[in-house]
Amino acid sequence: MLDLKNLSSEINLKIQQVKDRETLESLKTLYLGKKGIITEAFKSMGKIDADERKNFASELNIIKSNLLDQINSHQSKIELKEIEEKLNSEEIDITLPTKEIKKGKIHPVSQVIDELTCIFAEIGFSVAEGPDIENEFNNFTALNTPEHHPARDMHDTFYLDEDKKTLLRTHTSPVQIRTMLNNKPPIKIIAPGRTYRCDSDMTHTPMFHQLEGLYIGKDINMGHLKGCLDFFLKKFFEDENLEMRFRPSHFPFTEPSVEVDISYKLENNKIVVGKGDKWLEVLGCGMVHPNVLKNVKIDPKKFQGYAFGVGIDRLAMLKYGITDLRSFFEGDLRWSNHYGFDANDVPTNYRGLSK
Ligand code: DAH
Repeated sequence: MLDLKNLSSEINLKIQQVKDRETLESLKTLYLGKKGIITEAFKSMGKIDADERKNFASELNIIKSNLLDQINSHQSKIELKEIEEKLNSEEIDITLPTKEIKKGKIHPVSQVIDELTCIFAEIGFSVAEGPDIENEFNNFTALNTPEHHPARDMHDTFYLDEDKKTLLRTHTSPVQIRTMLNNKPPIKIIAPGRTYRCDSDMTHTPMFHQLEGLYIGKDINMGHLKGCLDFFLKKFFEDENLEMRFRPSHFPFTEPSVEVDISYKLENNKIVVGKGDKWLEVLGCGMVHPNVLKNVKIDPKKFQGYAFGVGIDRLAMLKYGITDLRSFFEGDLRWSNHYGFDANDVPTNYRGLSK
């Protein structure tokens, strides 16, 4: 007959040695498996004398239930330990640098906006802003472009309501109006930003960028305008010999109005801006129309000024040799890596814009 005292102390000893799932499992099989010591002892109880059997059975039951309790508590301890080990081994130190560093690039439009801001800051212009969603007053009426004016149709406007009162601004010129309504002269601002027209081909996209310029003060004339643009274009194209010319034009909000051309030549079918025998239109400008000043409650007898508007994307294309405007907005990483700028290439007047 199995010595139960011995069995109990043997189990106690063995259970203390349990360290992991495997030793626990083998202990379980050894005592409680199909052929386990305790299982066998129950099976062979028939051979014990009837009066001893009762005692034996109850003691064996106590040993079995003790063992089961011990096994259960060990099992939960082991599980906890395993979870802890797993958590520790999977810990991620988010302060460590990544193995592969991928650097993003600055988009040429952003870079050119920074270049332009630098150039105009040097001659006293500060940056003004306005919203992309405009009302028709700021975008047209106040700019001396009343309803039924043919210039409204030329703008391929995206209207946002049936009454044609709200729209996506078709140019940055409404920022002139906002600035003049909220400030007193002298006013000297540039306003870079997004503009929208319903148009798309190699040189037009439904969204594009413009930079508006406005200088309102006393005794401002076309000479100041020409001097300002000559300074800007030479600086921007980083060419002191760049030639420009004024060509008469028409805009409702300026009088007189001119368009500005810069000289260029073709080399291997590519446009090279600078000295050359050809002319390329780059911007529109003029003296702010007295009606515009009246619309923003500025007395045109006391104050005059000039304004200009230039396409930023087109400037970027010319300076950096990009041929298709649509590629600007496709978000192709290969394009960004090729034409984009390093984040450390910050344009400054004293260290240089791009060179
Ligand atoms: N707003 C004009 C356009 O989008 C550009 C322009 C021309 C702006 C002459 C001006 C200006 O400020 O004086 O075509």
